Amino acid sequence: MSSKELRKKFLDFFKNKDHNIVKSSSLLPNDSSVLFTTAGMQQFKEYYLDKKSPYGNKVASCQKCFRTSDIEEVGDERHLTFFEMLGNFSFGDYFKKEAIYFAKEFLDTLNLKIDYVTVFEGDGEIQKDVDSYNVWKELGFSEEKNNLIFKGRDENFWGPTGEEGPCGPTTEIYINGIEIWNLVFNEYFQDKNKKLTLLKKKGVDTGMGLERLSMIVQNKPTIFETDLFLPIIKEIENQFNLKYENNNYYFRIIADHIKSAVFLISENIYPSNIERGYILRRLIRRAIRYGKLMNLPSGFLLPLAKKVIEIYKDVYCEIKLSENNILTVILNEEEKFEKTLNKGLKQFEKIAKKKEITGEEAFHLYDTYGFPIELTKELADEKNIKVDIGGFYNFFKKHQEVSRKGVEAKFGGIGKNADYNATRLHTATHLLQSALREVLGESVRQMGSDINSFRLRFDFSFPRKLTNEELQKIEGIVNQKIKEDLEVKREEMSYEKAIRFGALSFFKEKYPPKVSVYSIGDFSKEICAGPHVKKTSELKKFKIIKEESSGANIRRIRAVLE
Ligand code: ALA
Repeated sequence: MSSKELRKKFLDFFKNKDHNIVKSSSLLPNDSSVLFTTAGMQQFKEYYLDKKSPYGNKVASCQKCFRTSDIEEVGDERHLTFFEMLGNFSFGDYFKKEAIYFAKEFLDTLNLKIDYVTVFEGDGEIQKDVDSYNVWKELGFSEEKNNLIFKGRDENFWGPTGEEGPCGPTTEIYINGIEIWNLVFNEYFQDKNKKLTLLKKKGVDTGMGLERLSMIVQNKPTIFETDLFLPIIKEIENQFNLKYENNNYYFRIIADHIKSAVFLISENIYPSNIERGYILRRLIRRAIRYGKLMNLPSGFLLPLAKKVIEIYKDVYCEIKLSENNILTVILNEEEKFEKTLNKGLKQFEKIAKKKEITGEEAFHLYDTYGFPIELTKELADEKNIKVDIGGFYNFFKKHQEVSRKGVEAKFGGIGKNADYNATRLHTATHLLQSALREVLGESVRQMGSDINSFRLRFDFSFPRKLTNEELQKIEGIVNQKIKEDLEVKREEMSYEKAIRFGALSFFKEKYPPKVSVYSIGDFSKEICAGPHVKKTSELKKFKIIKEESSGANIRRIRAVLE
């Protein structure tokens, strides 16, 4: 049975059990304490608490998930960074008995035989899960038969995602020795101090990896031989005349990373040196490094990205819609890293003759050759030498501090020196940034800015040339906001509050305890040292004079005011 059919079969099964089918949410969760969506329940988190679910109290989904914690484990038969999670959920509706019966029935429809199940054994704080135990017993599982095992908190208790949220004991189903389905019974709320309180509603949250399920149903030795991966592996074989052996880790790592990269880019994440963009960069660069070990030619990721798109474009429309973007970003990042990789590897060999790589050397590899620190660490591990990671971060911080000061100085940041025209352009820059995000999407990030008395120059993350239509739209929005004569307001608050308040911030390191937040009507809100004009009408008229590339995935706009 194909993975496509399995996805459908699962959702149809729960539809027939009165569940509402909900689309996968984005890989970028609302919860700011986590970088990525790591589980199906995340989009439903609030419905386990007081909020009413708009989808009803029984839902099922196939959710895109991304877990960075597994990057280094990728390559064995079952770990991945990107995967799809099939799940059924109850928010105060059915509980343990029904959830376990549903799971058993669904696996029966696929003629799959459960090896054994695990149940929470209880500890000082939480009781043993006798209810799940009794349900499994009804279904013919018990300790005596060796197909039911009690396990502790580490294995059979799940959640919360992020800093706080619902969580509870789990029961897990194993087939062919592999954990295939995790049934979580949300009975508790864990707060930021890890204190547990009982939830008013009891909930169910289950998760089954589509890749693992496909591996079992399709009777394959690893997830990489399923139809969710084999086309990518075959493409490497065919394009580069190589043979995939079952245990070939390099193929698997490349296949996993390119797939994740495609999905991240389809959500408008671009390679950068911070947060999600950094993870994307790490994945692409790690894949390229493994490609090098296999002697794959420059540009090898592109045909593989095309394969990934082919596998998923009918399932996730965002993949289809951003096909060109995806390929451009991969191509750019590949070109960029290819230029420095060989030189960087030579440099690495030079410094790796000693027992330890210093923080400064690791930073040099990062800054000059684009080696993510994790890559340097991995290379060093292979040679059994140490890297001073702490030292690296000290250099990294110092460097960021210097760039921030540079940016502030260019902005004329501290009021007195900036002449009035620069001040007007400064306010215009904020309007431009919001307009860009409105037209091109929320993922647009400031990458640099330079203002003098005559013009503004603004660099931002975006993977392709803007169309004339887009430029006109952006210009139009800024001029509209000028016309609306919005008030520019300054407030002082703590950095944390500013972020909660929704202010944009692009330089994370070392803010003073109090920051200024400038708001322009409801249209823009940014942490910024100023100065700014009082009302937008002072800007008169805004005109974009040039749009060009300013590096891989970075565009630059120059604009003037009348
Ligand atoms: N939320 C549970 C998991 O991720 C089902 O395993």
